[in-house]
Amino acid sequence: MKKKILILIDHKKIQAFKGETILDVAKRNKIDIPTLCYHPDLNKDFNCGICCVEVNGEMKNACCTKVQNNMEVLVNSNKVKRLRQQRLSDMFSKHYKECDDCVLKFNCELLRLVKKYNITPKAVVKNIIKDKTFQIGPSLIFDRAKCIDCDNCIDVCDRQGVCFLTKDSNGYVIPTNDKNKDCIYCGQCITHCPVGALEAVGEFEEVELPFQDKNKIVIAQIAPAIRATIGEEFGLVNNELISDRLSTALKKLGFDYVFDVCVAADCVVIEESKDFIKRLDNGSGVPMFSSCCPSWVKFIEFYYPDLIPHLSNVRSPNIILGGLIKTFWAQKKKIDPSKIIVVSIMPCISKKYEITREEYRINGLMTVDYILTTREISYLFKKNKIDLKKIKPGKLDNFLNNSSEVAINFGSSGGVSAAIFRTIYKDMTGSELFNKIDFKNMNNFPECSLAKLKIKDRIFKIIKVNGIKGVSKVLEEIRINPNFCDYLEVMACPGGCIGGGGQPLSKDAHIIEKRIQALSKIGKSKKTKTAHKNVVVQMIYEEYLNNKARINSICYTKFKKCKKGIHKILPSGSH
Ligand code: SF4
Ligand code: SF4
Ligand code: SF4
Ligand code: FES
Repeated sequence: MKKKILILIDHKKIQAFKGETILDVAKRNKIDIPTLCYHPDLNKDFNCGICCVEVNGEMKNACCTKVQNNMEVLVNSNKVKRLRQQRLSDMFSKHYKECDDCVLKFNCELLRLVKKYNITPKAVVKNIIKDKTFQIGPSLIFDRAKCIDCDNCIDVCDRQGVCFLTKDSNGYVIPTNDKNKDCIYCGQCITHCPVGALEAVGEFEEVELPFQDKNKIVIAQIAPAIRATIGEEFGLVNNELISDRLSTALKKLGFDYVFDVCVAADCVVIEESKDFIKRLDNGSGVPMFSSCCPSWVKFIEFYYPDLIPHLSNVRSPNIILGGLIKTFWAQKKKIDPSKIIVVSIMPCISKKYEITREEYRINGLMTVDYILTTREISYLFKKNKIDLKKIKPGKLDNFLNNSSEVAINFGSSGGVSAAIFRTIYKDMTGSELFNKIDFKNMNNFPECSLAKLKIKDRIFKIIKVNGIKGVSKVLEEIRINPNFCDYLEVMACPGGCIGGGGQPLSKDAHIIEKRIQALSKIGKSKKTKTAHKNVVVQMIYEEYLNNKARINSICYTKFKKCKKGIHKILPSGSH
């Protein structure tokens, strides 16, 4: 049991526990201490100083100062307020001209504090050494002028095991020049940056243009994980009604149709199951690796190209549905596919990279034209005064809709393998698998869990890896012993796409569990439980995916070794 101690906060006696920080105690007692760089995911010394408090007359950072018996803390003395104001003023002076088109504008802690502490920006002389803007591949923008040197991005990139961000000789954050290291676009640095210095490459301004063009049909397709998170931006509980509210809101914004990516997740299940069984029959390519997370695919293509043959060749749900819209749906509706603009609403910034892959084009057209993250679409709603909380729920458009429970669970770690092995079981035995696929943590393999599933007389070993860091050890084992497992599911983001780099920023230490529960509740509400029972998917196969050439062009690809991405320094003020 933790040892109890007493401290004084603003002269009031408060019980605390040994090992807690001043911020922990303040939060539990609903005492407001502002924070910026503090993040519960990172165990480190934070440094922005916004959480400063007076401790026995000395200034300390509340988020990393441990409590001691009889400590006297003042959270709002004049000295504290003056120091916070000075620090906020220094930070905000570099920022204030760029707030108007920032996706965090309606949800920005820095802006909130600036208003609260009445800060007027000072005139600032540009720092030509520091104030550079980097574009990292097609996915990330890093504006160093906004950076407050908290190092959260470096720490979280290291925690992912990628170590792409480092420091230059002046001590400023930069993308590494090491040709053996590359960004995989997981976006975890963005979700841990307190001031929007790192953000996704913004596509929201371009997406608004075709709404005005009467010759264009603009279609939104929404990812599973969105519905378990976007409510956070609007004070809603994340439940199943969100997708119906989203449908109304997207139409109000200007989209002509709203489809559900989960339908294509069910197609992925059908095709990956076939791919797996074929590999078993051929006796090669097992263990098979999941392929619907583009960051994971890039990780293999860049860091482990010798293992590429293990990646399933099936495209991701995002790309498959885009392809179906521009072929099958366009034919049905008698619409010229070149007039269709497909916009995917995604939890992910890696999808911005995925859609640029040339091999995904069909008849010369991109399968998906734009990716908007959960943060971007929330910004557009708020800018256009569309409040998800107040809006009347509508319905997703009927045609490419109706998903199974397993497709919804693609949004969280373990969901893909659970979905695929239900269909593999059905294909191999003719019966349904009703039992839960039960994953257990693996000793000596952090972030990895193993499930064993008996199908006929064989026991299949399925490993899921949560976040990218844990996977290298598994891959090293597979290089030595291909029988180490039969199927490997990797989602680059912690918890899977619900913790994706495009999701709302959160400092709730339990946010991943809450989102998993929300997604699972939405999944349980679905009448169709497995992909192979989805009647819409059956109709797609009967009417369109009824020959090998079409299945190949819509659902399959070939992955290949890749070089380091193009990362460039942008001219000042150009993003
Ligand atoms: S996107 Fe991921 S890999 Fe790239 S810099 Fe950020 S944390 Fe590192
Ligand atoms: S880019 Fe953001 S997370 Fe990284 S050091 Fe700067 S402020 Fe901190
Ligand atoms: S886990 Fe999901 S959100 Fe994260 S990079 Fe992969 S696909 Fe994108
Ligand atoms: S919030 Fe405590 S140092 Fe930044």
